[in-house]
Amino acid sequence: MARHFLALHDYDKAELDGMLTLARELKEKQKQGVPHRLLDGKALAMIFEKSSTRTRISFEVGMFQLGGHGLFISNRDSQIGRGEPIRDTARVMSRYCDGVMIRTFGQEIVDEFARYASVPVINGLTDLFHPCQIMADLLTVLEHKRTYEGLKFAWVGDGNNMANTWIEAAAIFGFDLALACPAGYRPDQAVLAWADAKAPGRITVTDDPKAAVKDADVINTDVWASMGQESEQKERERAFAGYCLDDALLALAKPDAIVLHCLPAHRGEEIADSVIEGKNSVVWDEAENRLHIQKAIMATLMG
Ligand code: CP
Ligand code: NVA
Repeated sequence: MARHFLALHDYDKAELDGMLTLARELKEKQKQGVPHRLLDGKALAMIFEKSSTRTRISFEVGMFQLGGHGLFISNRDSQIGRGEPIRDTARVMSRYCDGVMIRTFGQEIVDEFARYASVPVINGLTDLFHPCQIMADLLTVLEHKRTYEGLKFAWVGDGNNMANTWIEAAAIFGFDLALACPAGYRPDQAVLAWADAKAPGRITVTDDPKAAVKDADVINTDVWASMGQESEQKERERAFAGYCLDDALLALAKPDAIVLHCLPAHRGEEIADSVIEGKNSVVWDEAENRLHIQKAIMATLMG
């Protein structure tokens, strides 16, 4: 049975810490020009039902650096977009490829794909979770803060796929996470309940961004309208008034707090230009770390 990477809750802290350690080793090797062909001759299919810049490039380059090959497959020009069943696609791709990464809408789509695939399946973002991104974010936190232990993490904005994955991370790794989300845009109830049972009291949800950010070490935000929610942009702009991560809000955090954003960013909406370009921002390291952590995830699952 192949082991998949569909959500953080399928892993324990030691396993995820192991991937973070491997990512640091692979990053060092890549910087030093030391070959690390851990997936020599292997192929990863990358299915995209939504747009992507970082995910596509980092997985494809990552496979190349590991000695393998990544193939970009869009729903628009494959039979997926013409209604070929997921379970058929999963079995066929498993005969050609050593792993599959999927970016799609419902989490149930990646779950079904994984049920029928005989090779590892990696979640490259669904409406519910974005586990590769949060692992890249944690790698970035380790680089800038040495540890995630004892830190206060803050989330400001939509209770979306990123927020849900941070909630799982807080429960698994054991750090404090304060989320500020407006009413009607709170994180997934089942995810919150799962995390609260695993780590009671660690995770709080408020509608006050100032309370969430106060004395935070790590602040994270994301777009107000995610992919698939474009038609809600205007009503979301109204709902999220007061949720812009600007200099006044940032001033409430610790002076050496780091600012994360998975990108793409909408400057002037969820984050001020001065903050994303400012001294606390580590968003370019964060984007780079997608490459290194995904190489570690692929090497662990497909090696
Ligand atoms: N952060 C992220 O997943 O970016 P892309 O949508 O560009 O892949
Ligand atoms: N929440 C965003 C993340 C993009 C990387 C979305 O789902 O569109």
